[in-house]
Amino acid sequence: MDDADGSSDNPWWQRGVIYQIYPRSFGDSDGDGIGDLEGIRRRLDHLAWLGVDALWLSPIYRSPMADFGYDIADYCDVDPIFGSLADFDRLLAKAHARDLKVVLDWVPNHTSDQHPWFQASRSSRDNPKRDWYVWRDEINNWTQAFRDGPAWTGDVATRAHYLHLFLPEQPDLNWANPEVRAAMHDVLRFWLDRGVDGFRADVVHLIGKDPDLPDDPPEVLGTSRVDRHHAPETFDLLRGIRQVLEEYPGERMMVGEINLSDHELIAAYYGGGSQLNLAFNFVPLHASWEAAEWRTVITDIARAYEPAGAWPTWVLSNHDQVRHRSRYGGSEARARAAALLLLTLRGTPFLYAGEELGQEDAAVPPSRQVDPGGRDGCRAPIPWDPAPPHGWATSEPSQPSEPSQPSQPWLPWPPEPDRRNAERLAEEPASVLHLYRRLLATRRACPALHSGELELLAAPDGVLAYLRRWGGQRRAVLVNFTDQPVALGDFAADSGHGGWVVDLASDGRGEGRPLGCHLGSNQAVLLR
Ligand code: NOJ
Repeated sequence: MDDADGSSDNPWWQRGVIYQIYPRSFGDSDGDGIGDLEGIRRRLDHLAWLGVDALWLSPIYRSPMADFGYDIADYCDVDPIFGSLADFDRLLAKAHARDLKVVLDWVPNHTSDQHPWFQASRSSRDNPKRDWYVWRDEINNWTQAFRDGPAWTGDVATRAHYLHLFLPEQPDLNWANPEVRAAMHDVLRFWLDRGVDGFRADVVHLIGKDPDLPDDPPEVLGTSRVDRHHAPETFDLLRGIRQVLEEYPGERMMVGEINLSDHELIAAYYGGGSQLNLAFNFVPLHASWEAAEWRTVITDIARAYEPAGAWPTWVLSNHDQVRHRSRYGGSEARARAAALLLLTLRGTPFLYAGEELGQEDAAVPPSRQVDPGGRDGCRAPIPWDPAPPHGWATSEPSQPSEPSQPSQPWLPWPPEPDRRNAERLAEEPASVLHLYRRLLATRRACPALHSGELELLAAPDGVLAYLRRWGGQRRAVLVNFTDQPVALGDFAADSGHGGWVVDLASDGRGEGRPLGCHLGSNQAVLLR
């Protein structure tokens, strides 16, 4: 098998791997139990060592934190809980010095109700910013996320209702208003001027709205269906946003959170290269640990995206969902196989901080639950070393004679922090952390994996098999989704590419040897 050289002209956001940081939970430098920018800066060597290409920070802006930062009161400043603009500049400079790109969350659909724009808008019916939000005398039947109830709140001052698809503290902006578009474009420029490499746009499929705000059909009322508010108005808005990014040199990018389930529709948000660079697709995130389901989702995505020239994204975990290790039943073997799958599919993988440590959701007792959407478990703090407070800063004693206290982070630790922490796992060459590191290095050096085509191969029941190809370079991947060993029969001969050697195995077994006749239970292998 011929190896092509390592070059591909694809932009970094197609070749690379993006690592999501939830800033409250990554690292605390000041001992208040809440992560901050300096805490992230001090851990950048972990990310450089791991081998990711970019980090995406969930919102760091000024916020009353009704939705932990997804309710923004000032898009152009850092919340004091996280630090300052100067801290951000230091973090960005150090990340760039380590060849790590930095992607910021951008929340275009709604602000905080404390944002001065909304304060002005609600103050009177003839305020110049009145039309910056969506006000109505008569409301439709839309419901809000997270809680039961209408997506409308009545405001006494002006006897009208404002729209909020999320919490009442998150009023929706009116993107039909050109001043809103200009102001939000300027927010992008503010951060692009500082040097950020891109944005993750929160629920960006919601920014365009049918001006009639038609009622939802009865069958979707009271369901959690998120795709009911797709409106084609959004496409034009995305073209305007893309033009702002293209005012800047370098490969600046935007990945949009498109909470829809129709693959063709998701592909349409790329606009053939004129809208989003990337769009999240959460259908695979909701797939179960079943080879047949993954085969279907991979086929369906390829079929919808290829004609549209859309490059896929792959996400197994994020700050809104139960972590995939927990969803798949908790076994480390499955988490390892899932890592090999995630990092060898065709498209841009997104890792969620902690998955490289095999992290599961924390058990959060009712007394410590804080999120209105019930998402605390996946937001547990990252343990950095074996002993409490696991690398989180201790608070300063009030009296010099008192010892400093281990801080209690804002959420409980995930399971087994004494073992599943970055320091301990870095000492174990066979750990899940080293598996991620080896996969990332292998992927980076291999155009077939980061840029090549994907072809599904015939495989025994319970096994997913595919080929990745770039020029003369070929790799194959086999994932056994079952809890039993599976006989491969003459897979190697059948696939017409005999002589496969195990390059990397999710459990480390058989590496450097010809592919044997069995896959272990929940074992995944990368073959060359
Ligand atoms: C999606 C974000 O990922 C989630 O955390 C947030 O609550 C909603 N959008 C509203 O901004």
